[in-house]
Amino acid sequence: MRVDGVPYRTIWPAEDGRRVRVIDQRALPHAFRIAELASLADAAEAIADMWVRGAPLIGATAAYGVALAMVEDPSDAGLARAEDRLRRTRPTAVNLRWALEAMRAALAPLRPERRAAAAFARAAAIADEDVAINRAIGAAGLPLIAAIAARKRDAPVNVLTHCNAGWLATVDWGTATAPIYRAAEAGIAVHVWVDETRPRNQGAALTAWELGRHGVPQTLIVDNAGGHLMQRGAVDMVIVGTDRTTARGDVANKIGTYLKALAARDCGVPFYVALPSPTIDWSLQDGLRDVPIEERDPAEVTDVLGRAPDGRVGPVRVCPDATPAANPAFDVTPARLVTALITERGVCPASAEGLAGLFPERLRA
Ligand code: MRU
Repeated sequence: MRVDGVPYRTIWPAEDGRRVRVIDQRALPHAFRIAELASLADAAEAIADMWVRGAPLIGATAAYGVALAMVEDPSDAGLARAEDRLRRTRPTAVNLRWALEAMRAALAPLRPERRAAAAFARAAAIADEDVAINRAIGAAGLPLIAAIAARKRDAPVNVLTHCNAGWLATVDWGTATAPIYRAAEAGIAVHVWVDETRPRNQGAALTAWELGRHGVPQTLIVDNAGGHLMQRGAVDMVIVGTDRTTARGDVANKIGTYLKALAARDCGVPFYVALPSPTIDWSLQDGLRDVPIEERDPAEVTDVLGRAPDGRVGPVRVCPDATPAANPAFDVTPARLVTALITERGVCPASAEGLAGLFPERLRA
């Protein structure tokens, strides 16, 4: 996608082929900064401290993290150390594990001296694959928006989204936003209700920024407004992303997603989840029981990051000092509340049968 007319991905190799550049999402929306990752430690820090975030981008960064590690130490022990270090960064997005397994499969059979070049090539392929997948998700989701647009004639289609499952969360295009960008390109009038997404405000900081850059009409709302808007007919559909979807269609996503799904069900609003296949955890069935939910620093709840009138960006305490806080970062929406999944192979029911219909090779795996 474009930033001030310049096409960007969220992650790309530097010219020397031995370092990696990312959009530093900690600075957005107040500044647009590029950060350089020069080592395994940098890549691990970038994921854990959320310079990069979003399940597909976490996966791509982990892949490049392995490549950086192979420059430092391409031995078997070096490969194992890289996997271990990166695996411990964030627990919920299964794309991380998927990318590490893909890197191991490509690198383990090779002699150490060949691993660094092969690792950069495999990481680049993972990044390219993510872009192609998200494009396909956009194509698969477009008819869902177009059908509502046809019913509404010239009135805009109101889409509610939670967190940032946009191009900043992937290598390009986004998952939940891909059908929205496709619809906007196709001349369909769309308007997005952007949940601010406490505590880290990925909606306010990131989704609002990227939709604004691309001229997509939007309105920022507090997280608790969605149900009210749905009751009044102001939301035509919900589209969110996911960090891990089980083989039977339970969906782990940013904390608060479940409440949106409940409200959508009560109000008869379709609730869609857009996801690339590397986000499916075929080894899990019961999302509520089995998906590991990341607990993050309570300081993200007690202190909000923002820009003061003097232009300085910093944390602001929003509660009495020493207030105990909890910060579960994700929740699980049971498959029964999901209208359908939008994948790169098409749209399917959120069920074991639905997913197996689109990915039959998984039945044989
Ligand atoms: O904590 P984050 O910002 O990494 O959480 C991101 C989300 O919850 C996204 O919805 C999800 O990763 C899908 S991104 C295409």
